[in-house]
Formats: sequence, C-alpha cells, structure tokens
Amino acid sequence: MRRVDLTIERLSKSGDGVALLDGRAVFVAGALPGETVRVDLAESGKALHAELIEVLAPSPSRLTPSCALATTCGGCDWMHVSVSTQLEQKQQIVTSTLEHLGGLGADRYELLPTVTSPQALGYRRRAVLHPAQGKLGFFGRKSHLRVPVDRCPALTSSLEALPGRLAELLQGALKDVEEVHLLECEGRVSISVHLTGQAKAKHREAMALLLRDGQLDGAALVPEHGKGGTETFGKPVLEEDGVLYRPDGFAQANAEVNRALVRQAIELLDPMPNASVLELYSGNGNFTFKLAARSAQVLAVESSSISVQLAQEAGRKHGVPNVRFIQGDCAKIADGLVREGQRFDRVLLDPPRTGAEGAGRWAAKLLATRVVYVACDPASLARDAAELVREGYAPVALQLFDLFPQTHHVEAVMAFSR
Ligand SMILES: C[S@@+](CC[C@H](N)C(=O)[O-])C[C@H]1O[C@@H](n2cnc3c(N)ncnc32)[C@H](O)[C@@H]1O
Repeated sequence: MRRVDLTIERLSKSGDGVALLDGRAVFVAGALPGETVRVDLAESGKALHAELIEVLAPSPSRLTPSCALATTCGGCDWMHVSVSTQLEQKQQIVTSTLEHLGGLGADRYELLPTVTSPQALGYRRRAVLHPAQGKLGFFGRKSHLRVPVDRCPALTSSLEALPGRLAELLQGALKDVEEVHLLECEGRVSISVHLTGQAKAKHREAMALLLRDGQLDGAALVPEHGKGGTETFGKPVLEEDGVLYRPDGFAQANAEVNRALVRQAIELLDPMPNASVLELYSGNGNFTFKLAARSAQVLAVESSSISVQLAQEAGRKHGVPNVRFIQGDCAKIADGLVREGQRFDRVLLDPPRTGAEGAGRWAAKLLATRVVYVACDPASLARDAAELVREGYAPVALQLFDLFPQTHHVEAVMAFSR
C-alpha cells in the first residue's frame, strides 16, 4: 500500500475519479475532476485503484450527500456531486466513449439537449433489495457486501419506507429470501419475494401478512428456479401508460423520464404510417404500443416469457392489432429474419448492458433505412455504433436521458440513417 496525493482529471465510465500517476490511470471512487486527493494505492490487474483517504482541495461541485448511507450504499454513487456537474459528466462520458471506443467524434452527429429528471430524488419506481444483517438493503459501494436500509430517498414516495417495513413483516421468512423486488406504477405498489428454495406454508403466511398491512396492491412469491411455480397474492400486475408490469420483470426505473425517452426515441426513428418496424429487446411493450400507433406494423422480439405474456395481454386489452410479439433470443431471431429475406423500414433496439453485437449487420441486411439504438451502457453503444457505421449507417443524433440522478448511470438514444 502506498499513500500519494493526486489531481483528478475526469470521471470514468464507472463513475470513479481518474488521475494519472507515472503515465498510468488511477481510479478513485468518490473523487471529482479538479480535486486534489490523498489516496492509498492498490494494484488490481492492469488498472490501479485507490482508496480515497482525504480530499485536500475540494471541487466547487462537491456536496454533502443528503442521505446518511451515501458513502456505503452502492445505490447513489454520485450523491456528493451537484446535479449540474452530474449532467455535464454524463455527457462527457458518453461522447468521449463514442469517440475513443467507437471512433465517432462529436462532429459526426447532432447532440440534442439532455432530458433531465424533474426529481433529483424520489424518482425510482423499481428496486431490488437483499437480506442484510436481519433487515433488507442494497449492495454496498463496489462490493457485494450488503447495506441495511430502512428508508431510501431515491425511491418514489409510495416505496420510500418499504425496505424497513417489509423486513419487519418478513422477519420469520427472511433467512429463506434471496431478493425482494419493488415496483410502483401510478401510485400502486407490488413486490416479488424470491426464495432460495421451495415455497412453504410459512412463506405464504408471510405474504398474506404483507398484503393485510395495506401498503401493497399485490405480491408474487417466486421459488428458486426449478423448485415450483410463482404464486400470486392480490394483484401483482400493475399498469402504467397502457403497459402492464410485474415486479419480477423489467421496468424502466424513472417513470417521468421514461415517457420522454419513449416519445423522443420514436420521434428520432421517424416512423411513417406505412412503415414496418422491427423492435428488438421490447420488454413489456414500453416502446411497442406507441410505435404501433405511428406505423403499419411492428414485430417485437423479447426473451423474457413474463414480459411477452404481459405485452400480449396489454395488446389484447387495448386492441392493438398491428403488433406481433415473438419470445426468443434477439440474435437468433434477427439472423432468422435475415435468412428469410425479410425487409423492415425501421429498427429500434433497447438491449441490456451487454449491448447488441450484430445490430449493424441485421439492420443492413433487413434494409432498414433508419435505426434507433437505446443504450444503458456507453461502451456497448460505442461498439455497436461503430458496427452500424461499418455497415454504411451515418450517425444522425445523440440524446441523453437522466433516468438515474445521483448515480453515474446514463441512458442514451442514438439515431442512424442509411
Ligand atoms: C433494457 S431492457 C428494455 C426493455 C424495454 N424496451 C423497456 O423499455 O422496458 C432489455 C430487455 O432485453 C431483454 N433481453 C435481454 N437479453 C435478450 C436477448 N438475448 N434476446 C431478447 N431479449 C433480451 C430483457 O429481458 C429486457 O426486457
């Protein structure tokens, strides 16, 4: 261990301060650009990481976090950064990753104004909790150590106090719990309790108690994979903007910014009334139904069977005739569509963090003239954008959406045309 003083130059994709020492990058969690910091160095593989010991010259953007758990809990890793600097840094991270990893300088596309979150806290309508020292909590900073949490100010007002309350009510069953998922839609709340084994009578009793407490509209009890089916209590399926959600499936975390994300991604895709659209990684239909209203037909592909079932149910409920949902792996299905010689005017994709390698090839072979890529990982976006460019697409516009204030996470939408 070596103690040194460093000057932080920028923030990394994973939210850490980055300084240079003898030509090598040093990553310092909790440090901000412009700051002089005292750190203990620790070698880890090729990169140098360092523990922040003291901020010797703080940045004017440094704030005292409003949550007492901010330095230990892994949830809000940028709570010590002013919101305006968070936004600047997110833009810097995405544009420089596109440039350095994807070879796409900012002169190649139009950078549209970032869509900010109306709420800097109280915006999260979805969370995953883990048993933590007899309570429920989140993973810690850069570790799988768990931090017990009673209230979380990042959660929406309906969810904020649930971690503490659920831990009390689940007390007898907590040792058999792997995770608890929380979901809020339009003021209604539903949770799923994921077990480490089979569901037993005591778990069902705990679920009944949770519902009697009056804060939940519904709940699902999910045994370990292969150890029985999911059991439901009350109404675990919730609806928001015509899309059906369950707590054990995917939902965008910030409902307000999500509305702008959906609107703007569809605007950038520029669908036409006679267009055929391929939507990959369609989830529960967050983009799908709005896309269907603006085009002739949508083929939506998603691997989660829960999501596809809910999307189909919402399609029937709201009478959307021009959408077909297919459950399966996007790569296999897109390759199949290419082999069959299918054509699509537009492709919209919203992959998980690992990205969508092959996106450029699929879009080109399917003859799409416009592609919109929704990204939650800047490095995957840069890699896949470079593939789209190699396949003859020109980047048109990039827009960021601050879905996750107080964290380094950022959502980006990039449009391409050919
Ligand atoms: C970032 S989410 C987006 C979902 C949806 N577009 C939304 O806005 O709610 C990514 C989705 O991709 C799905 N997914 C992950 N890997 C997949 C794969 N290989 N093939 C198809 N879907 C996949 C996940 O189940 C998840 O629903």
